[in-house]
Amino acid sequence: MASGEDSPADNRSPLGRVGFESGSDIYERARPSYPPAAVAHLEATCAIGPGTVVLDLAAGTGKLTRQLAADGAVCIGIEPSASMREVFQRMVEGAVAIAGTAEAIPLADRAVQAVVVAQAFHWFDPQVALVEMARVLVPGGWLALLWNERDEADHSMAELVRISKWDHNQPYPMGHDFGVRIDESGLFGPVERSRFSFVQWLGLGEFVDQVASRSYVRVLPEAERQALLEQVATYGATLGDPIPMPYVTDLFCAQLTTS
Ligand SMILES: C[S@@+](CC[C@H](N)C(=O)[O-])C[C@H]1O[C@@H](n2cnc3c(N)ncnc32)[C@H](O)[C@@H]1O
Repeated sequence: MASGEDSPADNRSPLGRVGFESGSDIYERARPSYPPAAVAHLEATCAIGPGTVVLDLAAGTGKLTRQLAADGAVCIGIEPSASMREVFQRMVEGAVAIAGTAEAIPLADRAVQAVVVAQAFHWFDPQVALVEMARVLVPGGWLALLWNERDEADHSMAELVRISKWDHNQPYPMGHDFGVRIDESGLFGPVERSRFSFVQWLGLGEFVDQVASRSYVRVLPEAERQALLEQVATYGATLGDPIPMPYVTDLFCAQLTTS
């Protein structure tokens, strides 16, 4: 079995590594889970139900894992960060979190019926990871990639993005079509794209934490980080209590075409 940290197979990008090595409790507290309509659509499209064996790759603290497990899926979490895995084990009942990366998945060939990746595919080496995901899927198995993104069409979110300098640090633009990557791999069938909207309600502390939990903020020099978070807090205080955070969820599902 390949391991996560300290493994020669661990070729995570520097920000994807350092940005998630700590602060997992803040991540767990402030980041939204996935909207029930998106999870239901994912399960229906990818044939996930009671007893389906699902790999949650880059599972983090297990936000999506626990939603699928609640519907009866048999979930395996793979996650390179020990800090994230520690929270996962506390928060997800009946599923294990194994150390490993998307580029060297520590599972046998054809081990799972579905692979889900929430909020993380942009950290992977996409070509290597797609081959690995295809390898661990049974013939006809399903892949689902999804992201919760703050809805920048909303004025307050657009302003938050500007104040928190997300516009200069985002690893991908909001609404990016990751389905193109899946199609280009030639490993999966036509991509089914769907989008869902929801609102998360946050107290001021959580509002600041959802910015603090972002990897580009976690790696800032301390004085710069504090100054940025103070600006975010000042802005958040103008948005009401609780603060509405409009999000969109982009979901991409595709079936393995190779055997
Ligand atoms: C934004 S978090 C998403 C966590 C979880 N899936 C969720 O929905 O909350 C991104 C996760 O990707 C993990 N990660 C980064 N690079 C990775 C890689 N190359 N392989 C597997 N996981 C990786 C990080 O450790 C982190 O836990």
